[in-house]
Amino acid sequence: MNKQRRDAILAAEPDHPRWDGEPMMGGWYTEAEVEAIVKAVRDSMDWTVGFGFFCQEIVDFEEAFAAYCGTKYALSITSAGAGLDMAMMTLDLQPGDEVIAPAINFWAGHYAIIGAGAKLVLCEVDPLTLNADPADVERRITPRTRAILVTHMNGLSADMDALQEVANRHPHPRYGPPKVIGDAARACGGEYKGAKIGKHGWMTIFSFHTMKAMTTLGEGGMITTDDPALYERLRAIRMWGDARDDLWGGNYKMTKIQAAVGLVQLARLEEMNGLRYQRARQRSALLQDVPQLTLPYEPPGYKHTYYLYTCLVPPEWAGEKRDRLIGLLQDEYHVGAQVLNRPTYQSRAFVRQHTLGQQLPLSEELGARLFCPSLHPLMSEEDNEYVAAAMDAAVERVAAEG
Ligand SMILES: Cc1ncc(COP(=O)(O)O)c(C=O)c1O
Repeated sequence: MNKQRRDAILAAEPDHPRWDGEPMMGGWYTEAEVEAIVKAVRDSMDWTVGFGFFCQEIVDFEEAFAAYCGTKYALSITSAGAGLDMAMMTLDLQPGDEVIAPAINFWAGHYAIIGAGAKLVLCEVDPLTLNADPADVERRITPRTRAILVTHMNGLSADMDALQEVANRHPHPRYGPPKVIGDAARACGGEYKGAKIGKHGWMTIFSFHTMKAMTTLGEGGMITTDDPALYERLRAIRMWGDARDDLWGGNYKMTKIQAAVGLVQLARLEEMNGLRYQRARQRSALLQDVPQLTLPYEPPGYKHTYYLYTCLVPPEWAGEKRDRLIGLLQDEYHVGAQVLNRPTYQSRAFVRQHTLGQQLPLSEELGARLFCPSLHPLMSEEDNEYVAAAMDAAVERVAAEG
């Protein structure tokens, strides 16, 4: 980045920078969402109608989401956290069963595995993608492994074919190849080998929490699959056994209003993700000559959503200097940057207690090197230039501090 231009951009810093924290909404709403909400309420005002159980909005939203992902089925639910619990329930895990999941992660999947009574087996990630490393998964797989639960980290798909091949090479003696399951809470709209995330794997779980790429009024989620038996089981779990009275189930249903908003958000997702993608590429172009930064990687055949713009500092900056860089960005330049995520056993005592003896040195190092400066589809090109200039200047200062 040209230093003169950089310093001019920084000198002209806006009075009220709006990118000093993690954006509280991943996308944004328009009048179309407001109209959909009002219509859904108006349509429900008759006391003989109400919100219903599976109203047309829910059916339409699920059909549209399945069509978007190219899957046979999509099942709307209350959140990705609920979806991950449901995913583990479908495995009927027994004590001693193991589920492999990457250590660098949000903890929802890990909680679901532990909560279902299985052993959480942590694996390393590929340093380029921050996604589960299939070779390391293969090292940790045993005859007790029932599933491989991978997160499509920060918007980039895991290598689903390689993971499936590992699973196929190590079938469980009773249940066959471990199930490969995707956590796409942060990756709605991403692509892998010409298909949308959600198409590969036994099932994929999405989040529509307020901070995610698309949202259904703060909470919500979806599970996609091509497996009819799994779909029926998930339906049963979602509502008291659904049509079957001999099956266990709970209540994980989305509401009519959420589905009505979800339909609108889904129709706008490509636009919102497209803008985010442009900003990420603009930022990478601006920062390409900052040697200390490893910028997010998009492998050929993949489409990153850049839900988070994940950078790495050099290994010798791990920990203290990375934290100093984040501090400078925040305090001097008012640019927010988050550590998403460290290995969960470092951030959550609950995971630590259930993974005693497991240590993932590479994940620990990467967790001490990564940081995610704010990015949002509504960030203007000028604001994004400002963020890049701030990153360049903060890196230079940390480097000068020796
Ligand atoms: C990777 C990942 N999985 C799961 C979740 C949980 O999503 P939800 O808030 O919809 O339960 C999150 C939320 O931040 C996440 O980032």
